[in-house]
Amino acid sequence: MPEIAIRPAVKTDAPAIAHILRSTGWFEPINAEPVQETLNRMDRHLKLCLADNSHSIYLAEDPQGGVVGYVSAHWLPYFFLSGPEGFVSELFIEEAYRGQGIGKRLIQEVVREARERVCSRLMLVTSRSREAYQREFYKKDGWQERDDIANFVLKL
Ligand SMILES: CC(C)(COP(=O)(O)OP(=O)(O)OC[C@H]1O[C@@H](n2cnc3c(N)ncnc32)[C@H](O)[C@@H]1OP(=O)(O)O)[C@@H](O)C(=O)NCCC(=O)NCCS
Repeated sequence: MPEIAIRPAVKTDAPAIAHILRSTGWFEPINAEPVQETLNRMDRHLKLCLADNSHSIYLAEDPQGGVVGYVSAHWLPYFFLSGPEGFVSELFIEEAYRGQGIGKRLIQEVVREARERVCSRLMLVTSRSREAYQREFYKKDGWQERDDIANFVLKL
């Protein structure tokens, strides 16, 4: 297996992120839109994320420079917490590269940065129907599922 490096995203990484997301086939709006539209949006969102230090995107890269996965984290200053909360919004590994410890390494990178930022906690939401939940990807690394918190969404 090729050596995979973890590195922070730079603004030219938008096409790689677009490719990973489109290849999942999970997201109806992305499946339905032309490639260029996905590329343009990734480009805008990545620039926003890199504009200040409120967001961190880490990529997993093979020795040829091919991006095989990414994780996004957002650092939220809560008034009622002593340190910020890190929200992990996205974690995707290319299908051919799953099960090789890359997802775990990306999450470890976020945990490392969260400790460096003296965060109070990290948080994420995931679908119970996904393999990540069923194979206890997060629980294996100490994440606790909360049974006292309702997760609401207002779709706009
Ligand atoms: C979930 C996902 C990010 C895990 O990354 P990965 O690189 O495949 O996982 P790892 O190889 O680091 O596996 C870490 C642990 O999870 C287990 N695991 C293996 N394949 C897995 C899979 N497909 N999904 C979840 N967990 C898996 C491993 O057994 C391993 O456990 P161990 O440490 O006891 O051996 C990856 O499978 C993926 O991108 N899935 C599709 C997108 C997704 O579900 N993202 C999460 C949304 S919150």
